[in-house]
Amino acid sequence: MEPNTDPRGRLVRPKGTNDLLPPETGRWRRVEATFRALVESFGFDEVVTPVFEHTEVFVKSAGVVSDIVTKEMYRFTDRSDRDLTLRPEGTPGVVRAVLENRFRIPCRLYYTGPFFRYSRPQKGRYREFHQVGIEVLGEAAPETDAEVIFIGAEFFRRVGAVPCTVQLNTIGCRTCRPEFRALLVEFLNAKQDRLCDECRTRTDLNPLRVFDCKNESCQAVLAHAPKPREHVCGKCAEHFAGVQQGLTRRALAFTLNDRLVRGLDYYSRTTFEYTSTALGAQDSLGGGGRYDYLVAEFGGPDTPAIGFALGLERTLLALREPEAQPRRALVFVVWLGATEFPAALRIADDLRAAGIAAQIDYSGRRAKLQFKAADTARAAACVIVGPDELARGFCSVKNLTSGEQTKVPADHLADHVRALLQRAG
Ligand code: HAM
Repeated sequence: MEPNTDPRGRLVRPKGTNDLLPPETGRWRRVEATFRALVESFGFDEVVTPVFEHTEVFVKSAGVVSDIVTKEMYRFTDRSDRDLTLRPEGTPGVVRAVLENRFRIPCRLYYTGPFFRYSRPQKGRYREFHQVGIEVLGEAAPETDAEVIFIGAEFFRRVGAVPCTVQLNTIGCRTCRPEFRALLVEFLNAKQDRLCDECRTRTDLNPLRVFDCKNESCQAVLAHAPKPREHVCGKCAEHFAGVQQGLTRRALAFTLNDRLVRGLDYYSRTTFEYTSTALGAQDSLGGGGRYDYLVAEFGGPDTPAIGFALGLERTLLALREPEAQPRRALVFVVWLGATEFPAALRIADDLRAAGIAAQIDYSGRRAKLQFKAADTARAAACVIVGPDELARGFCSVKNLTSGEQTKVPADHLADHVRALLQRAG
């Protein structure tokens, strides 16, 4: 087990978690704000569900043999012996919440927040990570699939992530999947000696999952396996053609990927993923698909559904250029001597009352050190309060980006600083 302290004996964060500090927090919030504005423009409303649920919620949806359920859940028993799990993904909690609260269907819901999977941490893969996601309940048309896929791609375009590829597949429905499954099992049974241990087990339990395997020998076998897309029923084929047409209508390029079955059991028909070569091994920026049976499996009415989740850490890793560290919309009030302190304090409070973020140093340090503190706080400007200024009813305002200093009459101070901060932001 890894130590919980560093070599100097100071406590460190658990493996696979991240600390987020300024200015990264600002970048994070901007990306999240872009997501909210985008999905709200498509009629989505926010939903917030618990960070932990009864374990059954995830087992029922992801599938008993999925990696998430067998290896990756943060599962625990609480003090009253409840079997609970930190949510590894958002979809099942949303479905549960809609049904439990008798929320109207059809509905379009979005969420943002932390998720937890116990996997081996590496670049882009963490034990605590964050997703933004959408779920559409009660829409069956292929145009909805195209719209959902488009929204994800548009998000990556708006935040300025490196270009990503849309991978697309269909895995059929309850009518056509049994026949395909039988065909696949027959194929895999004839190749058992070339499959890894895990895929041999999967052959019986969940053969479609074999497509997920990264093992080279399994991949070589799969190159000749029957493909879901070529064995779907007429209705699924028609739906899938509609999805592709919808994407083309929106001029969104996509790549058909016959192996894209996704790691969760609830999918039917359309599956998709956004991938980027900028990320290395963890190349999936986000993914989703249709899950037309899940609502009924949770005891609700037959309800077609589709959604996606996008990884925030991976999105930030894929941003084209890290933003230059911006100065904050904050003004630092610098006072030159004890006589000016009461006036400086009043000025800081007046600025705050005018809606401007202001900070003041109480330590009584020399002005030079107060300027240094302003710089460390990444303030965009300083207001300087000295004896001259006070005597003549003005303040000096220093723009910390350009270094330019201006004398401003006291009654124009708030307007002047506001304009300066707006330009800095
Ligand atoms: P997922 O493909 O398991 O789908 O996760 C979606 C995205 O979350 C991934 O593409 C990745 O960007 C991010 N992600 C997943 N695991 C990690 C990790 N360990 N570290 C960092 N990022 C990670 C779902 O979660 C489905 N609920 C999506 C969905 C919504 N399907 C229908 N509706």
